[in-house]
This record gives sequence, structure tokens and C-alpha cells, in this order.
Amino acid sequence: MTTVGLLGPADDAEVAVLAARLAHRGVRPWIVDLARFPASLRISWGGGGVRLDGRPLGEMDAAYLRRVGTALPAAARYDAAAGGAVAVAEGDAALWRAQREPTVAALRDERARHAVRTAVVERLARERPVVNPPRAQSYHRLKPWLLLALGRQGLPVPEWCCGSGGEACGRFAARGRARWGEVVDKPPAGIYKTELWTEQRFAAHRFGRRPALYQRLVRGDTVRCYVLGGQLLGAARIVHGAAVDSSLDQTGIEVVELSADEQRTVERAAQLLGLDFLGLDLQRDARTGESFLLDCNLSPMFASWGRLSQCDVAGRLADHLIACAAGRAGAAAPRPGVLDLVDEAKALFARDADIAALLGAAGRRQAPGGGTWQGP
Ligand SMILES: Nc1ncnc2c1ncn2[C@@H]1O[C@H](COP(=O)(O)OP(=O)(O)O)[C@@H](O)[C@H]1O
Ligand SMILES: [Mg+2]
Repeated sequence: MTTVGLLGPADDAEVAVLAARLAHRGVRPWIVDLARFPASLRISWGGGGVRLDGRPLGEMDAAYLRRVGTALPAAARYDAAAGGAVAVAEGDAALWRAQREPTVAALRDERARHAVRTAVVERLARERPVVNPPRAQSYHRLKPWLLLALGRQGLPVPEWCCGSGGEACGRFAARGRARWGEVVDKPPAGIYKTELWTEQRFAAHRFGRRPALYQRLVRGDTVRCYVLGGQLLGAARIVHGAAVDSSLDQTGIEVVELSADEQRTVERAAQLLGLDFLGLDLQRDARTGESFLLDCNLSPMFASWGRLSQCDVAGRLADHLIACAAGRAGAAAPRPGVLDLVDEAKALFARDADIAALLGAAGRRQAPGGGTWQGP
């Protein structure tokens, strides 16, 4: 009997719909919410292998990774951390300590929990197909790396600049506005929203605390595309209001056909990242008709998109996982584990002249203008 693991909470819409599709195909999913570890999920690792609540992890023939767990501690109080910062400014060190210590303790605990959860899934990914493996999940959060990697391969990525060098970022914005009309200010780590660049935002940005990522604004439609096993599944324009970030005021979707170039772009991006399943965002320039690649989501939401578009992403993904489990789909073959990343990184550094220059500069002293990268 085939077992497909679904790593994520059972009440998550994507996990639920995927479980239903697998069950419909006669495959019983094994749902594991790693975020429950260690409070109500037991992981034992030693001797014979890994067991989750006593059940051998090796029973999974393939797995879909929705979420490793809460990367950030649910118990920590961010308002306390922010309040603490204010309190310090006011000189109330005792209050700062009282507020900060529980947060720091929760962060430490979470690091330990997260290390075990991630290692367990990486271990599984070495032996079984996992879509997508944990080490790739962070690509979405490493936006500058993602933009650099895709741009370097000739994919159309809107020009961008990032770093802590306020002057260099300001120059990029001034040149960008003269050349393209407008620039956006977006999160380098995908944790808050993309906004229009303004003089006020720039003046208020605390470069000493948080780097900025600026990018040419491409006025036009955002198109969400899904790629599975190297092939486009479907695409739809995001219908939304006046916000720059389409996710802020989305009201619906409208299925669209991709041009041959657009299809090549998204399929190539999935291939370059070596990933089986991706939700990618294209941005169509309303003026020129050109399309740019904005983002690659490794654990995209697809439940309501599938319902609205009538494109059964979950069903296709279920078929793919079953084929992986049976060893018929090659794409999700086990990949090198986390320790091999060191060699990969060394090889990348050796090939990349910019990184070599950056490392050289870091060895001497920081480059003038702060650490600012420009791409693609
Ligand atoms: N350069 C840009 N030009 C136009 N719109 C953009 C640009 N960058 C982002 N957006 C809008 O903001 C949304 C979110 O940006 P994205 O790069 O996907 O980051 P994330 O999803 O991590 O927040 C996009 O889907 C798009 O609607
Ligand atoms: Mg996005």
C-alpha cells in the first residue's frame, strides 16, 4: 500500500484538498503537522531511524512538504520585543529585560525545535522524493538570491538593487524613477508587502537596522502560474484593486493563456531551481507587453485558485506524488542533503566574479557606499 506523507497542519486548505485528492485515488495520506513537535508530536531518532509518534518515517514512499513548522515561535510576543526597544530608548532597562527575556527564550527553544524538524524532513528527502525539499523552501525568503540566480540565467527579472547602503539605494531609486517612471520598495525576505517607493518612505527607512530592496515598477497585471514536473499547469491574472501588491486587495482571478515566451520563462525557472512544484508570479508590462518574473513560491496556496480556475492543481499534484511514490517520476529524486550545501556554495563562489569581489572587499574593508548589490 502506497503512503504519501503530507507535512503540514490537517486544517490547512492545501493539505486538506491534497489529502482528499489522494484518498480519491485510493492512497491514504499520512498527515504530520511538524509544528506540533514536541508538545504533542513525538520524534525519536536513533538506532534504526526516525519515528514519528512511534511510526517509522520510512513508511512514507513520497511526501509533500507544506510547512516544516512555525519558523518563528508562536509563543513569543513581538509586541513585547518592539515595546522593549521603546523602553530601552526611554532608559527603562528593567522593563526591557522583563519583556525581552521570554521572547529570547522562546526563540532559542524554537531554534532547537526547528533544527530537529528540518533535519527529519531533510533526512526523508535523501531517501524519498519530497516535493519540495526543506532546504529549497527558503528560496522565497531569500529574494535577492532568487532574483540574482534567475536573472543570471537570462530570465527577465525587473532591475533591482538591495542592501544597507542608503546612498546607493537612493541613487538607484532616482535613476529608476527617471528611467522607468516608478520604483517599488519590497521586502528582501518576503515577510511584509511591496509598496510604491516614495521620498518619505526612503527618508524614514532605517538602513542601519534593515536593508532595503528596490525594484523597477512594472505597471500591469500580475499573473500567477503553476508549474508541476517541469510543465505549466495553468495561469490566471490576479484581479485586484489599486494597491501595488496584488495580494493586498485581491478580489478574484481570471484564467489567461501564457505566450510561448512566458511559458518558457516559468518552466525554465522551475527547471533552474530544480523543483517539482512551484507557484510563480509574472508581471505583464501593460505598455510594452513584456513579461517579467517576480517571484517563485515553493509552497504556494492552490486550493481556492484551483476551485476558481477549474484547473485541478491538487489533483495533478496528487497524481505526481503517487507517481513519485511508485518511482515513476524522476524529477523529485532524492537530492543532496544540507551538508553538501557547503561544497555547492564554494563552487558557486568560485564561479561568481561578483561574489569573489565582494568576499575580497569584505576581507579588506567594506566597499564604499555600504553593502549594496545590483541586479540582475
Ligand atoms: N517590480 C514590481 N512591479 C510591479 N508589481 C510588483 C513588483 N514587485 C512586486 N509587485 C507586486 O507585489 C506582489 C508581491 O511581490 P512578490 O515579489 O511576489 O513578493 P512576496 O510574494 O514575497 O510578497 C506581486 O505579486 C505583484 O503584484
Ligand atoms: Mg509573491
